[in-house]
Amino acid sequence: PPQVDKVRANAGDMIAQVDVLCSNLEDAIPFDQKAPARRGAIEIGEQNTFGATGYWIRINALNSPWHLDDILEIVPAIGDKLDVIMVPKVEGPWDIHYMDQLLAQLEAKHQIKRPILLHAILETAQGVANVEAIARSSPRMQGISLGPADLAASRGMKTTRVGGGHPDYAMLADPDADKPRMRAQQDPWHYTFAKMVDACGAAGIKPFYGPFGDIRDLAACEQQFKNAFLLGCLGAWSLHPDQITIAKRVFSPAVDEGLFARKILDAMPEGGGVAMIDGKMQDDATWKQAKVMVDLARLVAAKDPAMGQAYGL
Ligand code: GLV
Ligand code: MG
Repeated sequence: PPQVDKVRANAGDMIAQVDVLCSNLEDAIPFDQKAPARRGAIEIGEQNTFGATGYWIRINALNSPWHLDDILEIVPAIGDKLDVIMVPKVEGPWDIHYMDQLLAQLEAKHQIKRPILLHAILETAQGVANVEAIARSSPRMQGISLGPADLAASRGMKTTRVGGGHPDYAMLADPDADKPRMRAQQDPWHYTFAKMVDACGAAGIKPFYGPFGDIRDLAACEQQFKNAFLLGCLGAWSLHPDQITIAKRVFSPAVDEGLFARKILDAMPEGGGVAMIDGKMQDDATWKQAKVMVDLARLVAAKDPAMGQAYGL
C-alpha cells in the first residue's frame, strides 16, 4: 500500500529482498486513499534504484473510476522505471488490446525508451474461459497471476478463504465395515492452475500464483505455494514478510533435486541417448526436465550466492 509512509520508507529494504516490488492501487486501498496511493507509487518509482528487482504497479480495474487517472499519471511520471503494469480482472483479449494501444500512445508521447509490459490477474469466470486468448493477446504480456479471492466470488464458489483448501472440499473412501472411512481434502484450484499454466506455456509467458490470505497459517501458505511451483508457476505474491521467506524457499528448486538434475545434464552432455542414474532411466525428455530445474537454479544462484554454492553452480 504505497500511500503508507512506512511502506514507502521501507521500499529500499524490500527491493533488496524480493524479485519484484509491486505497489498496489486496487483492492485493499480505501476509496479515499486511491489518489495518495497513486502518488505514493510514483514516489517509490522516482526515489529508488531497482537494479535486478522489477518494479510493478497493480492499477485499478478498467471499469473503475480510477483506472484512467492511474495510467495517465503513472506513465508520464515513471514510465521509464516501471517494468510491468498488473491489470486486475482481465476478462478477455479486448482488455489487453485496449491497454496496449493506450500504452503505445503514451510511450510515444512521453518518449518512454522501452515498452511497459502487462501482467493480467485471472480472477473472473470469463477470464478463465478466455485465458488462452488473453495469454496470446499482445507481445506486452509478461505473465498471468491466479487471483483466488475475486475468482471464487465470480464463480460463486462457497468459500470466504483466499487460496488454499477447504475442509469440506474432499473425497471419501468407499465404506469398509472393518475400517474407518478415509477422507482427504482436495485442491479446489487444480483445474485453474493447470489451465493457466498451459495457456502461459503455449504463449511463452510466465504463470504466477497470487495472494494467500491467512497470514498466520504459514504451513498452508507453504503448501499452496508448493502446489503452484510443482505445477509450473514461477512465483507467488507475498502479502507479509513471512510469506517472502516461504516464497523464496518454495520457488527455488530443492537442493537435492537441483544436484540430481545437474547429474542428468552432466551424464548426457549432448542431450540425447539413454543413461541410468541411481537406478532411474534418463533420456532426451528427462534431460529437458533437468534443464528446467538447472536453469531455475542458475537464476536463484545469480541472486543468492549461498544457494549457488549449495547447487554447486
Ligand atoms: C487477487 O486479487 C484476488 O482477488 O485473489
Ligand atoms: Mg482480486
